[in-house]
Order: sequence, then C-alpha cells, then structure tokens
Amino acid sequence: MKNFYSTALQNQKEKNLYRSLTSSDATAATTIRRGKKNFISFCCNDYLGLSQNAQVKKSAIAAIEKFGVGARASRYVTGNNALYEKVEKQIAKMKNCEDAIVFTSGYATAIGAIPALVCEGDLIVADRLIHSSAIDGSKLSGARLMRFQHNDIAHAKKILEENRKQFKKCLIVTETVFSMDGDVGEISELLKLAKKFDAILLSDAAHDLFLSKNFSDQNHLQMGTFSKAIGALGGYVAGDKRLIDYLRNFAKSAIYSTALPPAILAAVLTSLKIISKKNLGAKALKNAQYFCELMGLEKPQSAIVVLIVGENKKALEIAKKVSEKGMLISAIRPPTVEVGKARLRITFSSEHQKNQVKKLAEILNFELKKIS
Ligand SMILES: Cc1ncc(COP(=O)(O)O)c(C=O)c1O
Repeated sequence: MKNFYSTALQNQKEKNLYRSLTSSDATAATTIRRGKKNFISFCCNDYLGLSQNAQVKKSAIAAIEKFGVGARASRYVTGNNALYEKVEKQIAKMKNCEDAIVFTSGYATAIGAIPALVCEGDLIVADRLIHSSAIDGSKLSGARLMRFQHNDIAHAKKILEENRKQFKKCLIVTETVFSMDGDVGEISELLKLAKKFDAILLSDAAHDLFLSKNFSDQNHLQMGTFSKAIGALGGYVAGDKRLIDYLRNFAKSAIYSTALPPAILAAVLTSLKIISKKNLGAKALKNAQYFCELMGLEKPQSAIVVLIVGENKKALEIAKKVSEKGMLISAIRPPTVEVGKARLRITFSSEHQKNQVKKLAEILNFELKKIS
C-alpha cells in the first residue's frame, strides 16, 4: 500500500505537478522574506494591503489583550464574541443586504452554505470555473451538479430548461471575479435566470475589491472571504434575512467548529470600516491596468491578471526566472486549472508602486519573448 503513495508522488514530480512549501514571511504590504532574500510579491491576495495596516494590527492586538487568543468554543456555545454581530452588521450594510453570517474561512463558507441550501433531489447549476471550495460544497450536498461553459448564459439557460422541473430546489453558482482567470461573472444575467427558474443565485465574491455595493435581492446570496481584500481570515454569506437565519441553523461548518479568534474579528471589522470610507480598490485596479498597458494586454476586469503559457514546466520556469530578479508571481498548474492551460497569475495591490509594476512588466516581456 505504501507504494501507492510514493508512486503517486513520483508521478506528480514527473508531470511538474509536485507541490512543495517555502517559508515566506511578510515584511510589509507587498514584500516577502524567504530565507535571506527579500522579494516584491505579486502573488498575494491582500489586494488592499490591509493585512499590514497599522490600524488593523492595533485593533487585533487590543482584542487579544482584552479577550485572549482563542475563541474557546463554537459560536453556539460560548465562542460568540460580541464582535461577531458587529462584523455581520457591517458586511450586510456594505453589501446592501438584510443580514449576513460569518464563517471561519471562505472554504468553510462554501462547504457549509451549499449543503445547507441544497441536498439530494435538488439541482446545482454552476459555472465550469468555480473554485474548488464550491465544488466540494456541491459534492458534499448530495445535489445533482451540472456545469455550464464559463460565463455562457445560453448554456446555463439550456440546462435549466431541460432539467429544472425534475428537481425540488435549485442553486446557481458563480463567482463575481474568477480566481484563476481574473474576469468577472455574469451576475445580473444569472440572477434573471434564478428568478425565472425559481432558483437561488449564490455568487462567490472572494476576489472582490469592494468597489461596488451588492444589489439586494431575495434570489441572491453572496458569499465571500475576509482572507483576501480584507487582509485577515473568515468568510461570510450576505443576503435575505430568512435565508441567513436558515444558514445559522443548518450550516454545519458554522455550528460544529470553534469560532474565529476575537482578534481576527476585530481586524476584519477595522478593515471593513477602512474600506467603507476609502476606496482602496481603485488603486489596485489602476496598478493592474498599468501593467496590462505595458504588456499590451486587454484592460483587466479585476486585480488579477493571468498569462496562459500552456505547459506546466514553462510556467514554473518563468516564475523562477522572475523570482531570481526579486519578484514573485504564481505558476498555476492543474488541477487548479485545466490540463494544458498552466498560467502565470499576477495579483496587484493598492500598495504596489508604479516603478515595481514597470519592472515586473519589463522582466516578463523579456522572459516571454525568450520562449515564444
Ligand atoms: C473563489 C474563491 N472562493 C473561496 C476561496 C476560499 O477562501 P479562503 O481562503 O478564505 O478559505 C478562495 C481562496 O482561495 C477563492 O479563490
């Protein structure tokens, strides 16, 4: 039996799919230290630099001093620190929704909310490129999962026309910003379908920059995370009051797991308040736009820019070359993306300097020319 595991690992190595971990210490909003070397990071999801924000850090430290480190129990026992209610009210307000529920991560949100909303005998119609957490949540639910081609509304409609009637409840799942492609989801068109076919649209806003308010709608639930633009940890679902109350009662990952540490809740609350006063997302987007101009790429729709290179080895080699010049970008390989579509994923922060973006574009232009 042991052979099975070592052969599987060997296979991963041969396909350039082996994953290894590198110690990486954040030193400032866009910098990382690995061993003795410092890097400018273009591969963090801390789009607004809030993980390093002085006010955010101060509020987390103050919460540790006041409440200690761990939450000590599930929210349903004694872990429900008063900060939870404040965070839930704040995110509901910012999303223009009636209510919200907080989970311990974006992943826990998906694997808790989806199986609570649908089960065996129900239907999930999902974009082909949804994140692994939503796929796992869908599988865990026992509902029938059908996928439509990426952002293809006609295909989603066809699936619903042909199948909706055979199932009791129905969930349509997409993302507001696709994590590995950086393009945006067709939220308003899918919401129309949700209304027409008596379904709920669940949109994952994990990579949102909090630039626009979500439109409140009874058929729309939005989930997201506090681990990216918010710079901390946790996840949420925002939407209709009754549905959120339902999730409070039936989402297992929220019930059977220890609550978030109060320090994290304090940090999230401070980040949300900063964002609601200051439009930091626009600067992250501007940096992505500047990079695309320099690279001759289409205008980006988010702070994520992707260069598809095809082969795994090529993606790894270019990322390595870039790192040798002091900059970090991600090489994304299957199964995160389709086989043959390995890519370089570059994420921009409001904290990047123009000259850093320019330098990255110069390095990449040079490296990409070498392989073309
Ligand atoms: C689209 C999407 N949804 C959900 C998640 C999970 O969020 P978290 O990292 O907070 O668990 C991620 C993060 O990788 C993501 O990219």
